[in-house]
Amino acid sequence: MATIAPPPGTADIFAEEARRWRNLENTAAAVFSRYGYGELRTPIFEYTEVFQKGLGNETEVVQKEMYTFEDRGGRSLTLRPEGTAGVMRALSCTDVMNGVEQRVYYYGPMFRGERPAAGRRRQFHQVGVENVGRVAPLIDAECIAMLMDYLQSIGISDAKLVINTRGVNEDRGPAGKLLADYFGRHIGGMCDDCKNRLERNVWRILDCKQEACRKVVAEAPDYVASFTDASRAYFDEVKAALTALGVPFTVDPLLVRGLDYYEHTVFEVTHDGLGAQTAIAGGGRYELFQPGQKKPVPGVGFAAGMERLLMVQDALGASACAAPVLPVYLVGLGSEARIANLKLAGILRRAGVPVELELEERSFKAQLRNVNKSGALLAVIRGESELEKGVAAVKTMATGDQIEMQEAELADYLIGFARGL
Ligand code: HAM
Repeated sequence: MATIAPPPGTADIFAEEARRWRNLENTAAAVFSRYGYGELRTPIFEYTEVFQKGLGNETEVVQKEMYTFEDRGGRSLTLRPEGTAGVMRALSCTDVMNGVEQRVYYYGPMFRGERPAAGRRRQFHQVGVENVGRVAPLIDAECIAMLMDYLQSIGISDAKLVINTRGVNEDRGPAGKLLADYFGRHIGGMCDDCKNRLERNVWRILDCKQEACRKVVAEAPDYVASFTDASRAYFDEVKAALTALGVPFTVDPLLVRGLDYYEHTVFEVTHDGLGAQTAIAGGGRYELFQPGQKKPVPGVGFAAGMERLLMVQDALGASACAAPVLPVYLVGLGSEARIANLKLAGILRRAGVPVELELEERSFKAQLRNVNKSGALLAVIRGESELEKGVAAVKTMATGDQIEMQEAELADYLIGFARGL
């Protein structure tokens, strides 16, 4: 029979794996809320200009990767390629506009029309945070420390943190000119994309992956030295705070990040267990414009790719989520026993006890096979004669021991057993 696979770059996530996703989400909620962050759920699609204006028209994501379509009124909409712009759109009607701090976290699907590969999907998922409204080096450092705290909480303690500074707007003119002069002298030996970048956005040359370009980039002048004293002092404070917090990092002047909204601190976290797609998380400080606003709003945040976090957990052999234990399986012979079991299952489930049971006419042997397959610790067995006597057999699967129990005591006994696990 022909089956339809999900579109390239997307995936179905079945229960066993979904449990691990839920663990990443729940741990994110627990860790981030300790730092004063609250959840924000924004729409999966936004007006296209939210991303054009927010991420910058020149970025690769906006130029090449957005899923854009028209609504019935002819208005352009886009599936969110990342979380920051939508969060800022949502917060722009709050007091962040007056410099009041807002701390939010989010998780969910994002969409980019990239070439699918291991760890690179068209529908992927991020957990992320944004700390919006205020500017201070310690806010950046706390945000980075929180990311490392989160990674540790999901069993990833050997990730590498790389940081850099993008300076502010007034730094980028002189620094950009320094780089443009240098690359202008070497552009002959560089790739066509870099030739283009030299005209449009010289910073993008710094993260070109072509061998020939990387050699030229390695010798590029120290542009951070040309930043203002204030910008360099800001970065020094971030580094000093990370050191004081015991968060190891390296500084990489080639880290510029792919989105245009960044300024001051940028950072990325990588892991060796990932192969080609080494970035498990990235973020930084930014100033973001929203359509119709005269003033940009500052923030700092990060997003981690959930698919990649799971890949790292796999590489570390850290399957964070064992399958839950099933305490009870109810075996019933005859329709009355099945009804009695269904009633009992309802009582147990409402008391918080996971239960499986047989709902169809099946032989005793077939039902016991299912009990074994389910891994249940106890089997409760009853047929017509047990019902008549008002009893049930309770079998401990590990030992095969079996006791007879009065129907009236059954629910309390099973609830007590499950709670004692
Ligand atoms: P980003 O670096 O574009 O930043 O994405 C963050 C993370 O999402 C990446 O490090 C990676 O783990 C994951 N990711 C990105 N694209 C894909 C893909 N196609 N497939 C699988 N995983 C992917 C942002 O999105 C910014 N909004 C982060 C941020 C928040 N900056 C400030 N606040």
